[in-house]
Amino acid sequence: MKALITAGGRATRLRPITWTINKHLIPLANKPMLFYAIEKIAEAGITEIGINLNPGEEEIQKACGDGSRWNVKITYIEQTGGPKGLAHILKVAQPFLGDDSFLFYLGDNIILGSIRNFVRKFRDDKVNGLLALAKVKDPSRFGVPELRDGKIVRVEEKPSVPKSEYAVTGIYCYDSNVFKAVDAIAPSARGEYEISDVHTWLIEHGYAIGYQEITGWWKDTGKPEDLLEGNQLLLSEMKSEDMTVEGTVAEGATLHGKVKIGKGTEIGERVLIRGPVVIGENCVIRNSYIGPYTSIGDGVEIYNTEIEHSVVFNQVDINCSKRIVDSMIGENASVLSAHETLPMGHKLIVGDNSMVEL
Ligand code: G1P
Repeated sequence: MKALITAGGRATRLRPITWTINKHLIPLANKPMLFYAIEKIAEAGITEIGINLNPGEEEIQKACGDGSRWNVKITYIEQTGGPKGLAHILKVAQPFLGDDSFLFYLGDNIILGSIRNFVRKFRDDKVNGLLALAKVKDPSRFGVPELRDGKIVRVEEKPSVPKSEYAVTGIYCYDSNVFKAVDAIAPSARGEYEISDVHTWLIEHGYAIGYQEITGWWKDTGKPEDLLEGNQLLLSEMKSEDMTVEGTVAEGATLHGKVKIGKGTEIGERVLIRGPVVIGENCVIRNSYIGPYTSIGDGVEIYNTEIEHSVVFNQVDINCSKRIVDSMIGENASVLSAHETLPMGHKLIVGDNSMVEL
């Protein structure tokens, strides 16, 4: 069995962060979002992975390499013919997938726990497709299954009146019959070959489409606050044994709860860290409070600041005598005190599509 992961798209709603970084490489709990998908697939025993990319993409290949780090073989598949929906992504990947059954995994979906049982169920139940369903508050943002007598009878993409309280998540197993549906369906009103239409087509043409309900699913629905929620979820799931302190911690500093500190990082006196928090390598933190659900990348310096429930990328400087909450601070950004240079006042160099609350 092979796996196909999506890692393309434009992620316009996550600008300005996604002007300079593919959203699948955004670090959550200090690890690129995409790595979680690869880890889950490797853990389920699948070793051949195709990754769908935007044309001209280079960063994903640099970050993931040939996959040997996870003991898998990665093949990169550039999207051709423009962005035309998930079913079109399957079509472009068909030469890679061949006649094998495969797992299709949308790279912006995060699930907690293993997908081993999901893959096993697909094999044991001998169905043509298996969908992972999750109960959600707002089904109309997703593909929504209509269930009758415990079976899916159709799937509707982003319905205004959802027929159930479930979303079809971005984790699917198929056999090669899926390509019959891919070739048969027409584009939707938004001009995309919808994966939900593939599912409905298969059901209506007599193919067996099963489902498994999963818990602990998170989907980046495109806004920064969604990413903060994903970061929170992953931090709260981190195992205590992975929360190692490799840097140096001054005597006067206090660490509470689950805190991970990378090599070469110095935590000075008068620092209070309340986990879950991860801090990368070669950072300096002095006279500051780092509160729960904060991820801090490598080479970050934080002085005289309180920060919590935030994601700080690599090489950021923060020194501002303020309390920062619910924030995403991109690579190389500086957040400094207005009092250090004249004239006093907030001096901003803010990129397009940024958001600042003063
Ligand atoms: C896509 C699918 C949708 C599914 C969702 C899960 O939506 O079209 O059926 O529920 O992924 O992540 P999109 O991310 O394009 O809004």
